[in-house]
Amino acid sequence: MEGRPEGGGNADKYIVLGVTGSIAAYKAPLLVRAIRDAEIGVKVVMTDAARQFITPLALEIVSENQVLWDNFQSPLSHIKLAGNAAAMIIAPATLNTISKFSTAIADNLLTTIFMAFHGPVIIAPAMNWRMYENPIFKDRLAYLKDKGVIEVPPERGTLACGEEGVGRMASVGRILHTLLRTLGSGDMKGLKVVVSSGPTREYIDPVRFITNKSSGKMGHALARSASLRGAIVTLISGPTSLLPPEDIEVIRVETSAGMQRAVLEKSKDADIVVMAAAVCDFRPERFSPGKLSRTESFNLSLNKTTDILAEVSSQRGTLKTPYITGFAAETGDRKDRAREKLHSKGIDMIVFNDVTAKGAGFDSDTNVMSVITREDELFIPEMPKGDGANRIFDIILRETGRGCS
Ligand code: CTP
Repeated sequence: MEGRPEGGGNADKYIVLGVTGSIAAYKAPLLVRAIRDAEIGVKVVMTDAARQFITPLALEIVSENQVLWDNFQSPLSHIKLAGNAAAMIIAPATLNTISKFSTAIADNLLTTIFMAFHGPVIIAPAMNWRMYENPIFKDRLAYLKDKGVIEVPPERGTLACGEEGVGRMASVGRILHTLLRTLGSGDMKGLKVVVSSGPTREYIDPVRFITNKSSGKMGHALARSASLRGAIVTLISGPTSLLPPEDIEVIRVETSAGMQRAVLEKSKDADIVVMAAAVCDFRPERFSPGKLSRTESFNLSLNKTTDILAEVSSQRGTLKTPYITGFAAETGDRKDRAREKLHSKGIDMIVFNDVTAKGAGFDSDTNVMSVITREDELFIPEMPKGDGANRIFDIILRETGRGCS
């Protein structure tokens, strides 16, 4: 916590985290830490039942803010907290608290703040599956959601009681993603975005394949950025060790043929297509169904794979017309090659990067890019791939007339 300003990374922006009485309360300190790592301060409010599961002290230490649970602990705290918070998260949210919210009962500090708060509210229910499926509760939850409360639905798994079912609180990652998406600009809301990412594998026999060094980091950063800005994102990913971004449709593929099928299908009704995948350019002419033996003599003949980007571009006229962006990973300052690809593939934009440059490259967490459109060229200096992804979408929105500058 050293070096953090009081109240979180950005002292001005904070959320109220309501913690209610469920065993999942033990995850609350992790959630506080994740939110603060995203530069958002956290002020925790607990119910009496929550204090049976976790101490206020633990949450006070990780949030670096006073933890409240009583209306009379600090005068007018419900009005002060509700007035300035950017959002409220209730995690875990019990059946009891959710039901009180939906019937306007304000009998403790948390329910009182909820009634006084006019900003976005996110709830992460946690309870036994029978309770979650109770028809009376379902009605209450549906009513709340109809009033704009955002649910991060619970997950299936083994519950505290030992039973299996849907009732486990959503992961910290999913709750954080929902918060960031809720607080995000929303400037891509409703847009359907298809991003391809990672390498492909072209099999020689069942155990050997040709691939490349792509890590998928840039493609995953693009998918996450679009999702946080409100887009409906499909990520088509070749094999990678990365965890997929939260709450995004992920289609896993292995070969260039699999990627081709998925990209063509998903591009049919996309508004934006970004081909960040490093598709293998060649595949073995023949696939050996049995493992090749080292005792056999062996010559590898290769055939070209289909240029997926050129194919998506050529089918544009028949369906919706997406804005199509490609990536050109080159060795050396070969913007000329990137520009040539922009024209030969018939796309709208190409992002050039020299994979040998400092701060760029396949497994790097940063990138240095030049965005080339038919009329323009913009330089994106070295920055984390997530920030670079945001810059790329800023330019795409401007090019498509949706951006403000
Ligand atoms: N690409 C594609 N299908 C392929 C190969 C590449 O859709 N079979 C896409 C990549 O996803 C990228 C763009 O085309 O967005 C440029 O890829 P790149 O490998 O730089 O260029 P190539 O077209 O493969 O040309 P070259 O190998 O000659 O550089």
